[in-house]
Amino acid sequence: MSTLEAMAVLKIPHFEEGFIEKVADDLVHRSLKVQKGERVFLSYDPDARAIVHRVAEKILSLGAFIDYQQRDGQLENLKWAKAELRFLKELDASLLSRIQRCDCYLSVSCPSEYKGFKLDSRRSRLSSLTSKAQREQIVDEDRTRRCGLYLPTYQQAELDNMSFEEYKKVYFKACDLDWIKIHNAQEILIEKLDSGKELVFEADLQNPDPKKRTNLKMCIEGMTFANSTIAKNYPGSEAFSAPTLDSTEGTYYSPGRFFWKGQLIRDIYLKFEKGRVTDFMVSSGHEAMQDLLDTDFGARAVGEIGIGTNPELIEDVSDGLLFEKKGASFHVALGSPYSIETYLGKAVKLDNGGESSVHWDVTNMLNRAGGSRILLDGEPIQINGRWVDDRLFVLNPRNQA
Ligand SMILES: [Fe+2]
Ligand SMILES: [Fe+2]
Repeated sequence: MSTLEAMAVLKIPHFEEGFIEKVADDLVHRSLKVQKGERVFLSYDPDARAIVHRVAEKILSLGAFIDYQQRDGQLENLKWAKAELRFLKELDASLLSRIQRCDCYLSVSCPSEYKGFKLDSRRSRLSSLTSKAQREQIVDEDRTRRCGLYLPTYQQAELDNMSFEEYKKVYFKACDLDWIKIHNAQEILIEKLDSGKELVFEADLQNPDPKKRTNLKMCIEGMTFANSTIAKNYPGSEAFSAPTLDSTEGTYYSPGRFFWKGQLIRDIYLKFEKGRVTDFMVSSGHEAMQDLLDTDFGARAVGEIGIGTNPELIEDVSDGLLFEKKGASFHVALGSPYSIETYLGKAVKLDNGGESSVHWDVTNMLNRAGGSRILLDGEPIQINGRWVDDRLFVLNPRNQA
């Protein structure tokens, strides 16, 4: 039985009352900060219903209103696999206009099938382009506050070698944090980063295999970092920006599990020259990685540099949104940068001019046995996953605090 077939034996996830209440309360009051008289669009998978219904109750009792769409992942997959290409270029104008009249947009994913599946390369490219165009219409920072989350699923737990109950515990711990403290510590970090010029990430430099060392240098002069806790992704947290477009140089190696359109890619080595991937190696998923890099010209560029700061996420998780938030981690995104000019009301410079229909995050840990550092203008600011400045203590992973 293939992995995908094994995953087809599905179970419906159950969430406890305490979990439902905590997540719904955070989403309405702390992530989206819904106000009386506003409209909120809810887009969700059927297995997310229990949490979405609680979210809706809270929104309605505030005197705000809801519009909603329950998704059907299997039908969507079927459409992308079988439909004539001309239809697939169409955006759903009526859905977009419903979303655009809302003040907030919440996407709650809990896919009952595997998160995507293999399409031929033409369809795969078209799907990237269409979802990018759709996303751009939904994410207008000045008009719509947007938040997204992936709830735990049995498939994800299985991929990470945990029982569903264990996975839910990991997820819940990652949600149950003092976000104000984290925000304030990130402000201190961001002040340093914004005044810096050069950022270097080093890990496993003594590894005898040069393709298993990370030594990545980038210019961040003129760029600024965004302070992300739970306003846009739940749970948080990270500080992110982008390097200047042609500046990233060196090697990147991350042992781990990554997914491109549902295909597993393991243990990624990337070589960067003048800001672009010029060589790569993976231990499995070569074809998927090649497909990703060949999506368009901008897919080989770096669109984001992010530093994960969630102190409770210490387990080996592979869900992209959780992985990139881990304390003692950093991620680069291949592809497009964020084009927004304000982040939660603050002016930011996140756009380095790159263009791609791809935005794909690959995370790397900075607390492995091989040793690691983050250097800002030559000075270490993090050593072996621990921040040098004591004021950033709250961002250290729990087992290293
Ligand atoms: Fe990020
Ligand atoms: Fe990203």
